[in-house]
Amino acid sequence: MAKRYISPLVSNRVRLRLLEEADLPMTLTWRNQDHIRQWFVHSAVLTWEQHHTWCQQYFQRDNDFIFIIEDRQEPHRPVGQISLYNIAWGRQRAEYGRLMIGEASAAGKGFAKEATRLLLDHAFGPFGLAEVYLEVFAQNAPAIAIYRGCGFREVAEQNGLKQMIMRAAG
Ligand SMILES: CC(C)(COP(=O)(O)OP(=O)(O)OC[C@H]1O[C@@H](n2cnc3c(N)ncnc32)[C@H](O)[C@@H]1OP(=O)(O)O)[C@@H](O)C(=O)NCCC(=O)NCCS
Repeated sequence: MAKRYISPLVSNRVRLRLLEEADLPMTLTWRNQDHIRQWFVHSAVLTWEQHHTWCQQYFQRDNDFIFIIEDRQEPHRPVGQISLYNIAWGRQRAEYGRLMIGEASAAGKGFAKEATRLLLDHAFGPFGLAEVYLEVFAQNAPAIAIYRGCGFREVAEQNGLKQMIMRAAG
């Protein structure tokens, strides 16, 4: 099934829009920075070929949505990325992840937390999901602070990775 289109999600300071082909050089640059890739399970430096091939497959999947995080105060300025993937529509579950603030000048300003809240609102609202889960390195204190602050709770820890879950209210 072809990927459905999702209109941009908007909050006070952040706009989330779907990843486009033209974004790929930028997201590869972000992803390959040492301080970002060290927190990804697949942490090796990616080549353009690897990134491009992976993304062509991504563009075909309807259970995987990568959003570019934009700063609304400087319209259409991309600052990072966030995603919801492995969506099991029938089971109403999905994985959250691939979060990064790639623009150094935008780090530590609350964009990641606001983007996470906005994406979760969409997951439990229009997407109709009942549960969202994630994995994070136990030493990734900034990311864990965001996830706890947005309502995820820890359910397990194994091999240095924490598993966290959030369920729909009610
Ligand atoms: C994780 C990441 C997206 C956070 O981006 P950011 O711009 O700092 O995020 P925000 O400004 O929205 O929020 C940061 C939160 O972490 C907290 N924080 C920052 N450093 C911290 C630390 N060392 N220990 C604990 N909390 C910390 C901040 O206080 C803030 O929480 P608050 O809003 O409750 O005050 C960014 O650091 C990044 O791209 N990291 C590399 C990739 C990555 O780790 N992705 C997640 C993989 S699971």
